[in-house]
Amino acid sequence: MKVINSIQELQSELSNYKKKQQSVGFVPTMGALHDGHASLMKKSSAENGVTVASIFVNPTQFNDQNDLLKYPRTLEADCVLLEACGVDIVFAPEVSEMYPEVDTRQFDYAPLDTVMEGAHRPGHFNGVCQIVSKLFDAVTPDKAYFGEKDYQQLAIIRKMVQELKYPIEIVGCPIVRENDGLAMSSRNARLSDEERKNALNISKTLFKSCTFANDHSVSETKAMVENAIKDAAGLELEYFEIVDGDTLQNVANWDDANSIMGCITVFCGDVRLIDNIKYK
Ligand code: PAF
Repeated sequence: MKVINSIQELQSELSNYKKKQQSVGFVPTMGALHDGHASLMKKSSAENGVTVASIFVNPTQFNDQNDLLKYPRTLEADCVLLEACGVDIVFAPEVSEMYPEVDTRQFDYAPLDTVMEGAHRPGHFNGVCQIVSKLFDAVTPDKAYFGEKDYQQLAIIRKMVQELKYPIEIVGCPIVRENDGLAMSSRNARLSDEERKNALNISKTLFKSCTFANDHSVSETKAMVENAIKDAAGLELEYFEIVDGDTLQNVANWDDANSIMGCITVFCGDVRLIDNIKYK
């Protein structure tokens, strides 16, 4: 496995594989890798001739500077996991490599990017689109792999790929959970033992709401989740929305869309956690 820091070196290394007509799989990450990332890496290595993983904590997608500073950086441990997952190239650039000058591009995918995370983290998805498009240009992959935990991010990236006509297949991969149900996240590492216990009520409540939804309306289900989180120790609900899985707009009835998701963001202490569940 090669660790590369510059775009030029990355492209010259990749040209060896491309000459041999090997397909390129790409998994962009911000590091602090866990088994959720490992599942993306393994899928890419199984499906492609060469797999590139990027590790880059992208400053333009953090609307909270404190969150950026506290974001865990664990390159050495990340490389051990990547090697074990069959990754061939790790691309770990410095900020100056990806942003030699300020990126002023604006990506507007309203209404996909104005709801939920978009409403609570102004500029976040613009930053995600900036870096993901730069990484796509650098790697020029055939397939790129993203986790469904960031459900809205995945929907926006699919939209960007369609609008900008990138010849890249976007592969969404299921949420990987801890044995007790907590969705894996790089941010879980920041939870104290007590916060970790409290955080469990997020997935528990979402799972419960799936059964509840069988004989209750959308608004009753929404209220049930909101109340359960409000009543749970140590959790503060930012939002819970029940949305059309394609348009991400709120639904009023279970018959309103073919695919319906519940998307939640909760503060556990000062750690912001997201999760989601598919109702249909
Ligand atoms: O999901 C993430 O880790 C990041 O948003 C991504 C896609 C790597 C862009 O920085």
